Amino acid sequence: MNPELADSPFLRACRRQPVPRTPVWFMRQAGRSLPEYRAVRGGVPMLTACATPDLIVEITMQPVRRYGVDAAIFFSDIVVPLKAIGIDLDIKPGVGPVIADPIRDAAAVRTLRPIEPDDVSYVTEAVRALTGELGPTPLIGFAGAPFTLASYLIEGGPSKNHDHTKAMMYGEPHLWHALMDRLTEITLGFLRIQAAAGASALQLFDSWVGAVAPDDYREFVLPYTGRIFAGLADLGVPRIHFGVGTGELLGLLGEAGADVVGVDWRVPLDEAARRVGPGKALQGNLDPATLLAPWEVVERRAGDILARGAEAEGHVFNLGHGVLPGTDPDQLARLTDFVHRASVR
Ligand code: CP3
Repeated sequence: MNPELADSPFLRACRRQPVPRTPVWFMRQAGRSLPEYRAVRGGVPMLTACATPDLIVEITMQPVRRYGVDAAIFFSDIVVPLKAIGIDLDIKPGVGPVIADPIRDAAAVRTLRPIEPDDVSYVTEAVRALTGELGPTPLIGFAGAPFTLASYLIEGGPSKNHDHTKAMMYGEPHLWHALMDRLTEITLGFLRIQAAAGASALQLFDSWVGAVAPDDYREFVLPYTGRIFAGLADLGVPRIHFGVGTGELLGLLGEAGADVVGVDWRVPLDEAARRVGPGKALQGNLDPATLLAPWEVVERRAGDILARGAEAEGHVFNLGHGVLPGTDPDQLARLTDFVHRASVR
């Protein structure tokens, strides 16, 4: 690895090493809030964009160029590996992933086969091109975690209460475990493909797992997220674990094996550090809606997050969830500069 990259503030903070200043990037930093994103996406469907290396590279680079963030996140979506193994699905604008035939029985579960590098050659190609363009700036690869993918597959689309998902988890545990087992192999395979192509950190998005109680997390989810993080250990790249509404699960998210635990805006970072315990860095956690308020509000709240984040063994500044589409890019530019200036050691 390029020594400047290995020594970048983002990778150092993930490894809980001293940093010259707090690194910052934003979940969903590439996307609809950027006019240059809307311009290149034009009439191109989301899943077509995700399979087109030139577009992936351009869209991934856009926020790095505009904001000078400390990491790039690969432009893709959590359902891309499912599409790649032949699941009939689409991403509907303003809705999210929609599955043609929801997975609710054993025969449907058996259609989920492991992913091979050839299924996603466009990912390998784009990651390779990006690591060249990014130089010393780390590229974060990512995947959706089994629970969050299972929710889309079982419900057939986005869901508020995850009713069918929990009905299977509680009522048909054999089927649940068979589904989670297959999704675990797909997710692990997809993350390893990105690391092999040059991604220098990996984030597992279990966005909707906050719907699950801690005891149920331990029984129905942790065996799988644990297998994913264990299956990445030999790569030596930082592993980040993120979910929304996970205040009661923060300890378990760390226990699953991540190096960095992502925190949403509901738990202050000093309290999150206590819940996660020693040996982990934290990532987060400005409420993305803060960016819709005047700059003075953003600055005050970001300053508070930096102060609390200093209680953690390592801190990567981020939002508590993704950038909202209506966000003014100038706010994110000011926030990036503020984090860099206010955190100089
Ligand atoms: O962070 C980044 O900038 C990288 C790109 C990225 C996208 N999706 C692009 C995208 C990442 C990391 C994701 C992950 C993702 N996708 C998650 C986990 C992160 C999270 O927000 O919790 C989830 C739950 C999904 C599923 C999904 N895909 C949703 C909920 C949506 C939004 C639906 C909508 O239109 O409101 C998508 C579509 C999607 N993924 C878009 C982008 C830029 C919007 C599509 C468009 O621009 O037309």
